[in-house]
Amino acid sequence: MHQFAIAAGAKPELYRELLSALDALTAGEPDAVANMANAAALLWEYLSDLNWAGFYRLLDGELVLGPFQGKAACIRIPVGKGVCGTTAATRQTQLVVDVHAFPGHIACDAASRSELVVPIERGGLLFGVLDLDSPSPGRFDMEDARGCEALAALLADRLF
Ligand code: SME
Repeated sequence: MHQFAIAAGAKPELYRELLSALDALTAGEPDAVANMANAAALLWEYLSDLNWAGFYRLLDGELVLGPFQGKAACIRIPVGKGVCGTTAATRQTQLVVDVHAFPGHIACDAASRSELVVPIERGGLLFGVLDLDSPSPGRFDMEDARGCEALAALLADRLF
């Protein structure tokens, strides 16, 4: 079991510490499933107020469920559908303050009220997305988006 001294301080510091912990957890490990599993566990443990944290991978043109923490979730999501599919189609982070106001949001867990989805890509190729859900409206802000984009950039080198 890995233990990290991650302070529940300001978000920039929190994400710097998460990046360093994720780096240590995945350095030298080529297995993508192992790295996604540990990343999901790390985010689940240290980010507050989540009801889901995990990955969808782009496989044969659609998003397929990867390692995660939280309730069992939708397995396949077409590119362009829902928050995850929109992220895959646009390759832009989707910061959704209120999922009920997002056209086509896919409610895997009815408790979800806000969502942050970040693309994971390298060299123009999309690997998949990192998806965080919260039961609180407006849980995520631009600091979360930038922090998770930095995590996704590190993971891009460890997942392909
Ligand atoms: N809400 C997502 C689906 C995935 S679950 O939240 C785990 C979406 O709209 O794409």
